[in-house]
Amino acid sequence: MCPTDKKSNEPENPSRRRFLAGFISFLGGLIALTMGGGGAVYFLSPAWRGRKENWVEAGPVADLPEGQPVKKEFIQRSMDGWVTSESRGTVWLLRDKGSLTAFNPHCTHLGCPYRWDPDKNLFLCPCHNGVYDKSGRVVSGPPPRPLDHYPLRVDNGIISILPQEAEA
Ligand code: FES
Repeated sequence: MCPTDKKSNEPENPSRRRFLAGFISFLGGLIALTMGGGGAVYFLSPAWRGRKENWVEAGPVADLPEGQPVKKEFIQRSMDGWVTSESRGTVWLLRDKGSLTAFNPHCTHLGCPYRWDPDKNLFLCPCHNGVYDKSGRVVSGPPPRPLDHYPLRVDNGIISILPQEAEA
């Protein structure tokens, strides 16, 4: 009888086989967890960052004439997950007697854009003849409430607003 024949006919050690199978499964699980977990964190992290205030620069205070509202354009960048988008917006800024106001540029009736009439010293909405005074109070027409304004702050003479946070 050949010694190699005897070896090939020997039954394998079942505990050794179980140990190797378990160890290989453990290694596979560890690799999957490391790669899958890292990937999940990478892709989900923007969703976990929470909502950030999106202040937008609207120009220097020094550019505003005293007592006359000025319409300013701005570009707002926002991030939704991994997508960054830009949108244009406008705001009416007023510097009056030491205070600053940023008006939402849409009428509180049905949202039409209104304009400033310097001769009448009034904001006029063309859609249904809504009229507001310089402070945004309703003078006449159907608007149900004064003009909304945006939160505003000034850093080093530059005005920033929070356009998505209009306040009544
Ligand atoms: S939308 Fe301005 S008055 Fe109606």
